[in-house]
Amino acid sequence: MAATKAWYETHLGFKHSDSLSSPHMGEMMHFMRCNDWHHSLAIARGPHTSVHHVSFEMRGLDEYMRGTGRVMRAGIKKVWGPGRHLAGNNTFSYFLDPSGNTMEYTTELERLETDEWHPSVYDISDPKNQDQWGTADPMSELIARESFNDPDHGVFVPPPV
Ligand SMILES: [Fe+2]
Repeated sequence: MAATKAWYETHLGFKHSDSLSSPHMGEMMHFMRCNDWHHSLAIARGPHTSVHHVSFEMRGLDEYMRGTGRVMRAGIKKVWGPGRHLAGNNTFSYFLDPSGNTMEYTTELERLETDEWHPSVYDISDPKNQDQWGTADPMSELIARESFNDPDHGVFVPPPV
């Protein structure tokens, strides 16, 4: 995770916004920005290399909640949410798409309109750091496992030197 973060910083100019940690796993997610939005990319620790989730930004709370409800009514498997993260201050509803990929509806992601930002590390064992509202179930092993994607069999592997 540290090497991937460093690569995005060095070669693509991304900046580090915040990180998540847990008492068992240590640092487990880095939020990275390439403009004043809190993050456009996050690098997460997982059991194998894959996309973790893709997020779709809604135009405000009403659209976000209506979208969440519409997907729920359609009987799509909801993994986690609705809630509002502390890091990034954005709302979240996670679903599994028909291929088993995790998709997120979100809105109101924080904008960092300052060059004086100092990254924080938030311990996700505190439920308030996962979800400010308290509407989402606490993150659990089960939820974490459900949102892991299949291994990326097409991932680039450099040839031995
Ligand atoms: Fe997300």
